Amino acid sequence: MPIAVLLITDRLEQSEKLERLLSMWGPCDVVDLRRPLDGGVAPYRLLISDVDLSSRIAVEAVRDRLAKVRRKGTPYLCLLRDHSPRLKIQANAIGASAVLPADLSAKSLLDEIGRILNPEGQAPIQQRFVAASAAMADLLSAATEGRPLPVAAIEGSVEAINRAADDRDLGAWLDMVWNHDDATYQHCLLVAGLAAAFARALGFPEKARKLVTSAAVLHDIGKARVPLAILHKRGKLTAEEFAIVREHPQIGYEMLLRQGAFPHEVVEAARSHHEYLDGSGYPRGLQADDISDLVRMITICDIYAALIERRSYKAPMEPEEAYAVLVGMGAKLDADLLRVFSSVVLTA
Ligand SMILES: [Fe+2]
Ligand SMILES: [Fe+2]
Repeated sequence: MPIAVLLITDRLEQSEKLERLLSMWGPCDVVDLRRPLDGGVAPYRLLISDVDLSSRIAVEAVRDRLAKVRRKGTPYLCLLRDHSPRLKIQANAIGASAVLPADLSAKSLLDEIGRILNPEGQAPIQQRFVAASAAMADLLSAATEGRPLPVAAIEGSVEAINRAADDRDLGAWLDMVWNHDDATYQHCLLVAGLAAAFARALGFPEKARKLVTSAAVLHDIGKARVPLAILHKRGKLTAEEFAIVREHPQIGYEMLLRQGAFPHEVVEAARSHHEYLDGSGYPRGLQADDISDLVRMITICDIYAALIERRSYKAPMEPEEAYAVLVGMGAKLDADLLRVFSSVVLTA
């Protein structure tokens, strides 16, 4: 069940990252401390403040907002920007049930929130999903900001996704992905979940499964450099915008290559996942012989994911319909792999 979260902040302009992260639990309302509180989707299951508590006025303002929305037993997480004991005391005085540094990594923050919301522990698949999402958050922000990609976080996410595939509950995975309202996360986690299940269905050994899932997690990393205004555009792209989107395989390839920490197959999948066996794909118009099985798998998962994705403005396709579209692509996709893929996505 989605969990409504309220974030109280005094730096609205910087709250997007945190909001995006919190939205994986469910709807997240953001309140600007400088404005009065209105409506929202209360009751909230979790309250969070990201406010500089060194000012007395700010402390009183947070206290005031909390008094309006907090119910008995609702956890309140207070994020602090420095570690002074005075601020900690301040946080406890306004009733914080937990105090954490505001600059905590996405993964640690989500782990902590998971503990606060569900001290008895979550179902394994949810834990895996939370771990994979947190890693995806670290990965996408590093890619967007041009920092080195977090290799350990990526490995952690691949491991979580592969173990989720072992649970053979692709449906539960997809439901959790669909709850997530950020399109890029949704797409990458969807492709990764499908690819992990695909590799498992093909009976691949652990090492090959790792490669396939890593390639899926990273396949669109080049999109982190495509302006959001283009990526999230609802209408048809102009020829110019389309040309920019089509640069993402090459950009991703160069990012991964430059860092030098990723297997050749993974780097190659970032560059070639839009190639088709009949030579009609991009960026290089490769022919079948030049396209590895791993890349062929990612391409199938990528197209299928795009068809079943849920967006506020378009109805998702049913699995059967989406699969029929893949079959209809004929010589562009690998027919043998596609046959196996049907056992992954179509429940008889
Ligand atoms: Fe792509
Ligand atoms: Fe993609």
